[in-house]
Amino acid sequence: MNTAPTRPRLLIARAIFPEVIDRLTPFFDVDSNQADDVLSATQMATRLVDKQGLLCTASDVIDAPLLAQCHALRICANMAVGFGNLDLAALSARGVVATHTPGVLSDTTADFGFALLMAAARRTGEAERCVREGRWHKWSYDFMAGQDVHGSTLGILGMGRIGQGVARRGAHGFGMRVIYHNRNRLDAAGEASIPARFVDMDTLLRESDHLVLTVAHSAATHHVIDAQALARMKRTATLVNIARGGVVDEDALIEALCNGVIAAAALDVFENEPAVHPALVSLPNVVLTPHMASASRATRLRMAHLAADNLLAYFQTGRALTPVPPLSPSLPA
Ligand code: DGY
Repeated sequence: MNTAPTRPRLLIARAIFPEVIDRLTPFFDVDSNQADDVLSATQMATRLVDKQGLLCTASDVIDAPLLAQCHALRICANMAVGFGNLDLAALSARGVVATHTPGVLSDTTADFGFALLMAAARRTGEAERCVREGRWHKWSYDFMAGQDVHGSTLGILGMGRIGQGVARRGAHGFGMRVIYHNRNRLDAAGEASIPARFVDMDTLLRESDHLVLTVAHSAATHHVIDAQALARMKRTATLVNIARGGVVDEDALIEALCNGVIAAAALDVFENEPAVHPALVSLPNVVLTPHMASASRATRLRMAHLAADNLLAYFQTGRALTPVPPLSPSLPA
């Protein structure tokens, strides 16, 4: 009779780096979706029903109806720092540990946030389309004139690792004055090292020339940038969202961009991604990218390894390395 202990069963919900799967296969019975099909809720339930472990991505929804069918599940390792795709209350009620990938993607994501800020402020997307489409015919004094970045005021909503990375790039590279709003204020040394000044939400909206959103999406931050918030911003301001689509009321933003309430926006995340609101696609003053802020090869590999490390640590020691933090309290007003 074979008395070898059975290995935990693991579902890898989307394609990931083969070398990371190779690290996992000695320890798990792995069912991996290397075809990279986007699994429907039914397909996910069918494949997860007998699994103890799950490695998933930010586009996989792990909610109460799914968990109700997956009684064996012990750990859900999200290959993302954000975890709005996970129903944390339902996971916790079933004793399923949830982990994410903080730290390893901060600089890559901050780099991209800054690239979007530059693109929106200096109209590079619009300008590039103009050249490619043969619409560049002459020099004019105000042709493609945008907003300066150097020496302007950079606002950051959500001052975690990514927000601080964007802030440092602005302050040190472009001589920007940095203001921020966050549920927790940085300590004095943290503020001085950027340097950044903590302000209330109203001041952030009114004084930012460029406002970058890096705040986690939660019930408290859903549509925190709505019509009222946009109306308090400068007409020359740009808005960059590298957080989650739900932080911005997209309908209100479309109105604001159409009516000159703010000058421009750059969005890496959307309310119903990968679907993008058709009105956004037709607006010239918005830069649109496909949720790719963490997408350097090296960083995506680090994210996949950290998700794997969490699975290995959990099944070998009973403790995950980077569990998601407890549910966030609301932002202060
Ligand atoms: C994250 O890690 O949260 C990024 O948005 C990639 O999904």
